[in-house]
Amino acid sequence: MLRRLHATQPESFAFTPANRAWAEAQITKYPEGRQASAVIPLLFRAQEQEGWLTKPAIEYVADLLDMPYIRVLEVASFYFMFQLQPTGSVAHIQVCGTTSCMIMGSENLISVCKRKIARHPHELSADGKFSWEEVECLGACANAPMAQIGKDYFEDLTEAGLERLLDDLAAGKTPVPGSEKGRFSSEPQAGLTSCMATPGPREAHNGTVARAVAVGDGIKRIDGTEVRLSAPWQVSGQMAAIGLMTARPRSAVQQQAAAEAAKAAAAAGSAGGTSTPAAAAAGAAPKAAETAETAGQKPLALAAAREGKADDLQKIEGIGPVLEGHLHGLGIFHFDQIAAWGAAEIAWMDANLKGFAGRVSRDRWVAQAQIIVAEGLDRFLERAKTNNY
Ligand code: FES
Repeated sequence: MLRRLHATQPESFAFTPANRAWAEAQITKYPEGRQASAVIPLLFRAQEQEGWLTKPAIEYVADLLDMPYIRVLEVASFYFMFQLQPTGSVAHIQVCGTTSCMIMGSENLISVCKRKIARHPHELSADGKFSWEEVECLGACANAPMAQIGKDYFEDLTEAGLERLLDDLAAGKTPVPGSEKGRFSSEPQAGLTSCMATPGPREAHNGTVARAVAVGDGIKRIDGTEVRLSAPWQVSGQMAAIGLMTARPRSAVQQQAAAEAAKAAAAAGSAGGTSTPAAAAAGAAPKAAETAETAGQKPLALAAAREGKADDLQKIEGIGPVLEGHLHGLGIFHFDQIAAWGAAEIAWMDANLKGFAGRVSRDRWVAQAQIIVAEGLDRFLERAKTNNY
């Protein structure tokens, strides 16, 4: 396929502040001199922000990574996951046309795209809301034919099903991904023939679909201000219901943490400690002052553990005694503090935990803490035994 920059380009590109903080944290994951290794995630985030990869975005990422423009263009033009032309403002439909999907009817799905979106791939629909393309195998062959729409997979698709999906998306609905026929995963179409005994009631959706439903960002542009998970966590209805897996207004989180910090600091002050809430919070986190504040936003700290008792943060996979000590030094004592971090706080922690750069996102501390807060420590530990969290 001929892949070249689109003829019409915007004047400029810049990451949103939160995406910029996220990008700078990603760069810290790589050793000095190897920052170019971050090129694919940074390009992808630029695409998630804008919907497609513009020339200014490619140059912006090259400048961030100190790479020649041509090297970044080579990457962007090689991988077809990068869209080098404007995509639909609502969704870009990627229909798999490889063997299994073709045998099972992908050509009919492409006919729907031609009829309802535009005659040619990568052409915008008349209202600018949709675009489509045929792609190579997306690894869901057992549930062929399928299409990826935004970040989600829609499987066992029929012509009528795809038409309905497009209508729903145009109407502003967020369709549930997964199998159109209701298959839980990729079991035989006629139902299970082995492994019939299940230990308990089955979840409503498999892990991937449950996560997609809970996060609900399948076709959203990413400005970096949402809590985003980095692994397919099994999400309970309870978690989704209390909103822990979806975007949280930063100001609300900050206000809550600030109120707690002020309360705890005031208590410390009245007990003969530091005299003002701000000074108390600062005094409780001496190590924070020593760290280089290079990216994101420092999480709000508590002056001391509530009621003098910190949570056992080592229960979070990836946190050992040394990291727990660092966290206490930063005024972080409780699971709910970690659960409330957004992208900016994660970026700051990833960049400022000396000797442990990138650990917060790598080990998914926030997602683990959210499960502990939502379902309790016992349930979390139970899930951890079977990796079912
Ligand atoms: Fe379509 Fe593999 S052939 S997903």
